[in-house]
Amino acid sequence: MQILIIHGPNLNKIGKRDTAHYGTKTLAELNDFVSEHAHALNPEIQLDFFQSNHEGSLIDYIQERSLADGILMNPGALSHYSYALSDALRDFRGKKVEVHLSDIKNREHFRANTVTGDACDAIFSGKKEESYKEGLTYLYQMIAGA
Ligand code: DQA
Repeated sequence: MQILIIHGPNLNKIGKRDTAHYGTKTLAELNDFVSEHAHALNPEIQLDFFQSNHEGSLIDYIQERSLADGILMNPGALSHYSYALSDALRDFRGKKVEVHLSDIKNREHFRANTVTGDACDAIFSGKKEESYKEGLTYLYQMIAGA
């Protein structure tokens, strides 16, 4: 089972950036946390990690890996307006879960809506790195048919 873990713009800065909303883990630490959880779910899950600050690079990455089983994605601010990324997710035939570190429904008005989330099977937000853990569990169970 191959799962893509994709992080959008500015997520390379977590750990230092707005820790009240995004927590204190760096991106490398967050990826390690996700890896450990994946291994606990099923040691045969293969994770591929990608972060980009560029919308087109994220779309290329998704298009080039169309045979993966699932995507766990935090699109960052692109969540709120990128119909191009939303379309790329819609075209991906596997399962898709969107995650956010912060509680996007209870922050600035512009963050409440997620057009990429509309293209996903589920959204987990507001629990910092735990959002990733919950999202990955849900994604795994959907793919495994559990
Ligand atoms: C975020 C929420 C977005 O609104 C913001 O632009 C981010 C991070 C989150 O994980 O809470 O970059 O996706």
